[in-house]
Amino acid sequence: NKQISNICCIGAGYVGGPTMAMIAQKCPHIKVTVVDLNEQRIADWNDADLDKLPIYEPGLADVVAEARNRNLFFSTEVDQAIADAQMIFISVNTPTKTYGVGKGMAADLKYIELCARQIARVAKDDKIIVEKSTLPVRTAEALSTILNSTGNGVEFDILSSPEFLAEGTAINDLQVPDRVLIGGKDTERGKAAMQALVDVYANWVPLENILTTRVWSSELSKLTANAFLAQRVSSINAISALCEKTGADVDEISRAIGADSRIGSKFLKASVGFGGSCFQKDILNLVYLCQHFNLPEVAAYWEQVIKMNDYQKHRFAKNIIDKLFNTVSGKKIAFLGWAFKKDTNDTRESAAIYVADELLQDRAEIHIYDPKVTKEQIIKDICHCEEERRGNLPESETTKELLKRVTIHSTPYAAMENAHAIAILTEWDEFKTYDWQKVYSEMLKPAFVFDGRNIADKEELTTVGFDVYNIGKGK
Ligand code: NAD
Ligand code: UDX
Repeated sequence: NKQISNICCIGAGYVGGPTMAMIAQKCPHIKVTVVDLNEQRIADWNDADLDKLPIYEPGLADVVAEARNRNLFFSTEVDQAIADAQMIFISVNTPTKTYGVGKGMAADLKYIELCARQIARVAKDDKIIVEKSTLPVRTAEALSTILNSTGNGVEFDILSSPEFLAEGTAINDLQVPDRVLIGGKDTERGKAAMQALVDVYANWVPLENILTTRVWSSELSKLTANAFLAQRVSSINAISALCEKTGADVDEISRAIGADSRIGSKFLKASVGFGGSCFQKDILNLVYLCQHFNLPEVAAYWEQVIKMNDYQKHRFAKNIIDKLFNTVSGKKIAFLGWAFKKDTNDTRESAAIYVADELLQDRAEIHIYDPKVTKEQIIKDICHCEEERRGNLPESETTKELLKRVTIHSTPYAAMENAHAIAILTEWDEFKTYDWQKVYSEMLKPAFVFDGRNIADKEELTTVGFDVYNIGKGK
């Protein structure tokens, strides 16, 4: 049985960084090298100041501090790391295609393909390749074709081991995963490769939590898991709209249905809409696969999860405009939160971006505060969204003009001072601790709060004098 002592991971992002840090911490006998083309990212991972790590994730800095330069290394020397490793994780990004066939739906596998070609070129001995990125079902086949076409006698075994960590809780998710999934071929070699990866995880994960399946099942399980999770959020958000019309309270409904053990209580929090780099991308990918395999009914079923999410984001923005007497032009709207969820600095597909865009189109002035997202990132998100929305229409307002109406603050009170309304977009814990009396006294009246996460104490805020609107709570 092959004992792994040298691992390489290509891609030092939200998955590659924390996942490899955890393997290195739990397996001091394995040398783990995480490589990336992005020099700045690698420099940040190597920064002596742990506050400069490229991603914010509770508990991550401690794990990195323990293992870095012991058996965990971050490097831009991709070829060298590939050549030295017995097992190579591919953890590069797989965004939605923005061009050509499958544009706007299919996963763009160009980074995966580049990795495969690079590995094929560099490898001089047999290697186990682990798909960590989220991939369409049957990608292992394409990888195998590229890797095994060199004719130099080197053999590759391809495993699928999708990552189920969620941002904000990544360290805990990696430390005590509900399960680790490993898919491989049902051959002697395939089984040996799977066992080698099982042995790595068995250093800290109980064997009964390590599931082994065929490759295709493993690949498709990842898309399915994300589709089911996102579907729960869209389902409860759909009910939230009905609650607002009828006077029912969606949080009470979540509690009531969640008590049914067949439904379960997790992932039933109504919100302004789900964000994050995975849900939308992975469902679009699933929809594309269904269409590709001529299953239009199945495709339409899952597509509805995304449509409902778009509707929820739009509904939230429109409610702000409606309640502010049908226009937010020239009005100051304070945004609490920009990240797609709490405890992360990630903003990919954050609902805040879409809500901001819609309010900016109605000429609002937006004042944003987020505890962890940088000013540069927020500006980048707004510009990107505006450019996408605008296309090439010449008479549209320029992005520069739009940015004149955006201010980013480093303290929450400055963001809310003289505001017409506050919109809560992320559920950061600190938002619950503010001095709402002070906030109220410094705002314009009537002072509105639109709580897109149902985290503020509605009774307290109403007593202070605020006009509070929640998700899924009828007046
Ligand atoms: P990311 O964008 O944060 O990181 C990917 C990294 O790969 C980037 O730093 C990029 O520079 C690097 N890269 C791309 N091509 C490369 C190449 N040829 N050589 C070297 N480096 C290269 O992405 P992420 O969020 O870590 O996601 C990675 C994959 O994991 C995706 O498929 C995603 O769907 C999946 N995933 C993400 C999460 C999550 O919570 N973010 C969870 C589970 C699975
Ligand atoms: C998700 C999956 O949970 C994880 O298993 C997978 O590996 C990657 O994709 P992530 O996107 O990091 O993880 O965070 P998640 O906690 O799933 O939240 C996604 C979005 O849904 C966030 O915007 C969150 O605020 C929202 N959400 C989640 C809700 O609105 N309500 C809920 O009840 C749960």
